Amino acid sequence: MPDGYSSSRKKDDGCCQEVYRMARIRCMMLTLDTRTVIVLFLVIPLGFTGIYIHGQKVTYFLRPLWQSPPKSFIPIPHYYHENVTMPWLCKLHGWKVRDYPRKVYDAVLFNNEVDMLTIRWKELDPYITQFVLLESNSTFTSIPKPHYFATNRKRFDFVEPRLTYGTIGGRFKKGENPFVEEAYQRVALDQLLQAAGIEDGDLLIMSDLDEIPSAHTIDLLRWCDGPPPILHLNLNDYLYSFEFNVDHSSWRASVHQYQKVKTRYAHYRQMDYLLADSGWHCSFCFRKISDFVFKMKAYSHTDRVRFKHFLDPKRIQNVICNGDDLYDMLPEEYTFKEIIAKMGPIPRSYSAVHLPSYLLNHADEYSYLLPGNCIREKG
Ligand SMILES: *[C@@H]1O[C@H](CO)[C@@H](O)[C@H](O)[C@H]1NC(C)=O
Ligand SMILES: *[C@@H]1O[C@H](CO)[C@@H](O)[C@H](O)[C@H]1NC(C)=O
Repeated sequence: MPDGYSSSRKKDDGCCQEVYRMARIRCMMLTLDTRTVIVLFLVIPLGFTGIYIHGQKVTYFLRPLWQSPPKSFIPIPHYYHENVTMPWLCKLHGWKVRDYPRKVYDAVLFNNEVDMLTIRWKELDPYITQFVLLESNSTFTSIPKPHYFATNRKRFDFVEPRLTYGTIGGRFKKGENPFVEEAYQRVALDQLLQAAGIEDGDLLIMSDLDEIPSAHTIDLLRWCDGPPPILHLNLNDYLYSFEFNVDHSSWRASVHQYQKVKTRYAHYRQMDYLLADSGWHCSFCFRKISDFVFKMKAYSHTDRVRFKHFLDPKRIQNVICNGDDLYDMLPEEYTFKEIIAKMGPIPRSYSAVHLPSYLLNHADEYSYLLPGNCIREKG
């Protein structure tokens, strides 16, 4: 084609060439104008709108270019069957059974998650020496909140003789990074643990309330000598309910052999060892739509609520039933392969096998956490 065009041009004589050139220029001006108009009034505004709405997606998608994954954990294989004895279980892990179990402290910060706390404490109940719970009258974003635990305390009478409950006043610093208030509350939790009587060598579970170690995991760790003194727990990740199993990669929860002064309550990576398949992490597993709105407004990552309509109850209900993302974000992964693999809604799971026993024994009361029940109470 280009050859044919240039050969036909060579054949033109001088006069026709001039007219031809003028026509071409006029024609170019015209098309340029149309193009300019399109660019000015369509492409640029659309581009800005696109960046405004999806800018975060673009940066998340490009994350593999600017961030490399953290050093990977050293996984510890986890063995369990209800019919295997403790000495043998310890031996399978390369550990030795103790003459008596270690004492275990479970310490959490409480916001308003009464249901999840019930499931957690019922799961851990047989193996916990002291339940330690701290509650503030401020959310991490400095919104005042009632002491929800205090008003629901009667529901937890099964732990009452082993409960150390503390409250703390919020600092209500407007405009501060919510992680500062969170860190402040964790320091107070350290003091509450000492008041609860924790001693060197006792086990301390450090986790968010919705990160629930399985009972048999805690039983194993309290009976065996040999686990690393700081051990992260690998949990199954769920979103909205146990119907949506996101992945198996939760690692923030940890179990520590307590050491005075040295041990500080934390919720980040502290060591390299990760015990496989040790429980459940159920994020945004709430009974009521209003709980979702509260959490989105009141806790960390409020920056993710980029638009008001993200808090619209109808939208939230649809997002839950579709297994979509509440903040319309891309998966937070470090490789393109993983981002693409995880894009789109979370597939439904029809399995309710290996879930906390209290949940299955009270399935009527907690049906919203089980497969097939994505509709939430409005309240
Ligand atoms: C558990 O152990 C008992 C007694 O040793 C045995 O009768 C039973 O079949 C075992 N159950 C399973 C599921 O292995
Ligand atoms: C929060 O608690 C502190 C300490 O008990 C108290 O001084 C403060 O007035 C409370 N603030 C609100 C908003 O309830």
